[in-house]
Amino acid sequence: DWTMAGYREQAITAIREQVGTDKVICALSGGVDSSVAAVLLHEAIGDQLTCVFVDHGLLRQGEGEEVAKMFRDNYNLPLIHANEEELFLGQLDGVSDPETKRKIIGKLFIDVFQKHADAIEGVKFLAQGTLYPDVIESVSFSGGPSVTIKSHHNVGGLPEKMGLKLVEPLRELFKDEVRALGRELGLPPSFIGRHPFPGPGLAIRCPGEITREKLTILRRADAVYIDQIRKHGLYDDIWQAFVAILPVRTVGVMGDGRTYDFACALRAVTSVDGMTADYYPFTHDFLGETATRIINEVPGINRVTYDITSKPPGTIEWE
Ligand code: XMP
Repeated sequence: DWTMAGYREQAITAIREQVGTDKVICALSGGVDSSVAAVLLHEAIGDQLTCVFVDHGLLRQGEGEEVAKMFRDNYNLPLIHANEEELFLGQLDGVSDPETKRKIIGKLFIDVFQKHADAIEGVKFLAQGTLYPDVIESVSFSGGPSVTIKSHHNVGGLPEKMGLKLVEPLRELFKDEVRALGRELGLPPSFIGRHPFPGPGLAIRCPGEITREKLTILRRADAVYIDQIRKHGLYDDIWQAFVAILPVRTVGVMGDGRTYDFACALRAVTSVDGMTADYYPFTHDFLGETATRIINEVPGINRVTYDITSKPPGTIEWE
C-alpha cells in the first residue's frame, strides 16, 4: 500500500544515495514547495544542506522574520537569511514595466544566491522543490521568468551555470501530495495552508513604479485584509487573496478635511491550479467592514475597490 510515511522513507533513502557525502544548497522562498523540499533534505542529510533565503524586500508584513524563525526554531537548519532590500529596490527604482520588473528581480535573485553558494566549500548539488506539474510544464505565468528556481519554466540554466547537479525530491508529487508530505514532516498546518505567493512578491501588486512609501501602505492594507479573511473563517476557502495598491491618488473626506491618497484593490479568487480562477463572492457586509477598517487603519489609503474579474480574461495578479 502506498502511504505518505512510506514515501518519506523512500525519498530519504533516494536522497542519501544520490548525494552521498557532498554538500547541497537550496533556495528557500517561504513557499510550501521549497519548504517541504528543504525539511525532507534536512532529514536525509542534516548539515550537508544549507538553505539560502533571499529576502528581496518585497515580502508581506513580517514574512521574512517568520520564515527564518520557523526554520531556525523548529528544524535547526543551516539558513542564510540574505537581506537584500536595498539592492532590489535600488535596481527597481523608476521601473514600471511588469516584464522588466520580473527580469530585474530574477537576475538579482540568481546573483545573490550564487554569491552565497560560492562562499560554501564543496557544494555539488542544487536542491529544488520542482513538482510533477512543473516537470510536465503545465504551469505558466502571466509574463517573464519567475524568481523561483525551477528548471523548466522559470530561471532555467542555473544549475549548469553554477556547475551543480540537481536534487528534486518532489518531482513525482502533485501540490496536494506535497502538502500531505509537509504535514507528515511536521510542518505547521497554518504554514502548509498558506496561499501561493509569487516569486516577484509585492512588486507585481504595486502596478507602475515601486516606492518604499507604496510598499509600506500595501503591507499594512494587505495585513488588515488577511486578518479580516481569517477572522471570518474564509482563508481556507480562497486560493489567493491580496491587496494591490493602485498608481492613482483620489480625493476623499475624513473628519473636516479633504484627503488625497492612494486607492487600492482587493483581490480574492478560488481556483484549482491557478490556471483559471473565479473571483470570490464575499458578502457586501464583509466588503464594507473591510473597506472601513483599511481606510481607518492604514494611513495613505482613502478608497477601496473589489476586483470582480475572473481568469480568463483577467490574470490573478495585477501585473
Ligand atoms: P496569474 O497572475 O498569471 O498568476 O494569473 C497565476 C499564478 O502564478 C503566480 N504568479 C507567479 N509566480 N513568479 C511566480 O513564482 C511569477 O512571476 C508569477 N506571476 C504570477 C500567481 O501568484 C498565481 O498564483
